[in-house]
Amino acid sequence: MCGIIARIGGDDDAVDELLTGLENLEYRGYDSAGVAIKNGGGPEVFKREGEISNLKEALSEEVPDGGLGIGHTRWSTHGPPTDANAHPHTDCTGDVAVVHNGIIENYDELKSELRARGHEFESDTDTEVIPHLVEEELAKGADPETAFRATLDELSGSYAVAMITERDHAVYATRRGSPLVLGVSDGEYFLASDVPAFLDFTEDVIYLDDGDVVVVESDDHRITAAGGETVERSVQTVDWDPEDAGKGGYDHYMLKEIHEQPAALRQTLRGRADPATGDIDLEDFPAGTFADVDRVQFVACGTSYHAGLVGAQYLSAGGVPAQTFLASEYATGQPPVDDNTLVVGVTQSGETADTLSALRQANTSGATTLAVTNVVGSTAARECDDALFIRAGPEIGVAATKTFSSQVVSLALLAERLVRDVTGTRTDDTRERLGALADLPGHVQQILDYSSARRVAEEYRDSDAYFFIGRGSVRPVALEGALKFKEISYEHAEGFAAGELKHGPLALVTSETPVFAVFTGRNDEKTLGNVKEAEARGAPVVAVASDGQDAVHQYADEVLTIPDTHPDVAGVLANVQLQLVSYHAADLLERAIDKPRNLAKSVTVE
Ligand code: F6R
Repeated sequence: MCGIIARIGGDDDAVDELLTGLENLEYRGYDSAGVAIKNGGGPEVFKREGEISNLKEALSEEVPDGGLGIGHTRWSTHGPPTDANAHPHTDCTGDVAVVHNGIIENYDELKSELRARGHEFESDTDTEVIPHLVEEELAKGADPETAFRATLDELSGSYAVAMITERDHAVYATRRGSPLVLGVSDGEYFLASDVPAFLDFTEDVIYLDDGDVVVVESDDHRITAAGGETVERSVQTVDWDPEDAGKGGYDHYMLKEIHEQPAALRQTLRGRADPATGDIDLEDFPAGTFADVDRVQFVACGTSYHAGLVGAQYLSAGGVPAQTFLASEYATGQPPVDDNTLVVGVTQSGETADTLSALRQANTSGATTLAVTNVVGSTAARECDDALFIRAGPEIGVAATKTFSSQVVSLALLAERLVRDVTGTRTDDTRERLGALADLPGHVQQILDYSSARRVAEEYRDSDAYFFIGRGSVRPVALEGALKFKEISYEHAEGFAAGELKHGPLALVTSETPVFAVFTGRNDEKTLGNVKEAEARGAPVVAVASDGQDAVHQYADEVLTIPDTHPDVAGVLANVQLQLVSYHAADLLERAIDKPRNLAKSVTVE
C-alpha cells in the first residue's frame, strides 16, 4: 500500500512534478519517500525515511536536473520505515531503479536464488528483487522491455511496478492486482497509483487494465495487454478539479470532506430518484435488472462495512434476504451462493485487497458481483459484473467521511431498485424515504452550520473512554462513530448495539466514560432505557436526536441535534454529528488527523 508516480517529459522539471505527485499521493502511505531521476546517464536516487518534507529537504540541497523520473511514497509491508527500505530500489550496478506497490509473494525464494548467484541486497523489502532480476536479464543481452517482461514472469503476488534504466529514456510499468493509471498531457506523461497524483498537470487519463505492460517515452506510449498483444486504451477526461484534491482553506482534508457532504450527496442523488413519483433511475440498472436475484450479500471493510450493514437492513425491511460480511472473514465462512446471489462489494477506493478477494471468491462460486465504489476505473469497478458509482468526489483524508454518506445513500437507492425487482412491489413509504434522501444535502448543511460538536468534544476531552450506542438502523452508525473516534483521536472508543450494553459492556461504564446515544424516532423508548442504565452508573450521556424528541432531551446531558427526517435516513445525519465530534476531539489532542498513525487510505494488502 504505497503510492507510485512516474513522469516523463522533454524538459528538466521531473523533480518538482514528482514531488507534487508524491504529496498528492501521501494518503496512500507516508512512512518514507523517494525519487530516481534520469538525465542522460543512470538513475540518481534520493530517498528518506519519514514524510515527504524530509525528502524535499534532501532534494533542496542538490536539485537533480532531468525530465524523466519515478517516485514513491511508502506504507511499510516488508521491513521498517528506513532510508534503506524506502523506494526506489536499485540493482547491484545502480543502472536499474524500480518503485513498487503491492506484494511480491515469492520474494524470499527469489532473494535466496539471487544471493546464491552473487547479488547483495541493501533493504528488507520484497521490491528489491525486481531490479536485480532485471539486471540479470540485461546482462544476458536483453533490451530493457524484454528484461522487464522476463522479470515479471518470475514474480507472483499482486503489484504495480514502474522502472527506469540507464539504457534509455523510457519508463516501463505494469499493473497486476494493484492500481496504475497513465496521465497524458502535452509533451509529458505521468504514471501513478491514482489520478489525484497528477491532477495538477493533466485531467486526461488512460485507465490501464490488469496485466497491461506500458512503455512510455517522451512523445509516445505503447500498451500491451496480458496476452502480449498491443492494445489501444481510450483517454478519459476526469472532472476532478485539482482544487478538489487540495485542502481548499480547511485545516485538514477530513474537515473539508465533512463539509463537502452536501455537495457530494447532491452528486450521489443527481438524476437518480424522484420523490414526487417514487421513480428510481440508476443508469445501468433499469427496472428488472435484478429480477433473478433471490438474496444479497454485502462484503466490505471498516467504514464501508458499516455502510453495508445499513444496506442489508434496507433490503431485509423491503423483503429481500440480505446479509453483510466483513470481507476479510468471507473466505473462511463463506455462506452458500448460487447464480441468483448478488454479492455487493462496498468499497470507496475499489482497491481494498480484502474486499477484492471476497468479490473474486464470490465470482468464482457463481454469484453475480456488483461494486459500489467511488473510483471509476478502480479494480473493483472493473472486475465486478457491474458497478454503481457513489460520486462522492476524491477523498484524501484517511478517515472516510463523505464516502460513507454517499455509500449509504447509494445503497438506499440500490435497495429500492432491488426490492422492486425482486418482490414486484415498492417499499412501504417509498416517497417519504426518497423525499428524506432528497432533503439530506440541506439537512447536512444545517448540521454543519449549527453543530455544537466542538463544545461537546471540549467538555469530555479528558475522559477515560468513549462509548457509542444505537439500535436498528443506527447500530451501524454507533459502530462507525466509535471507529472514527478511535482512528483519529487514538482514544479508546467502542460502539455497541444499544440493547447489548447491559449484557457486558456496562461493566466498563463509569462517570469518566461518556456514552453517545443515537436516536432515530423509531424504537427510541428502548434506547432511552439503555441510556438510563448508563446514567445510573454515573456516565454522562450525549444524545444525537432531533429537536422533537422531548424525552431524550430530558435525560441527556448534551444533545447534538439533527433535523427531523425519516428514521431510515436519520443515521446519515447523526453520523455527521459524530464525525464532527471525532474531528474536534482529535484536533484538540493535536493528532495527525489526515494521516492517523499506522493507517493508510487504501489497504491493498490482505
Ligand atoms: C475508516 C476507513 C476504513 C475504510 C476501509 C475500507 O475511516 O476509511 O475503515 O473504510 O479500509 O476501505 P474501502 O472503502 O476503500 O474499501
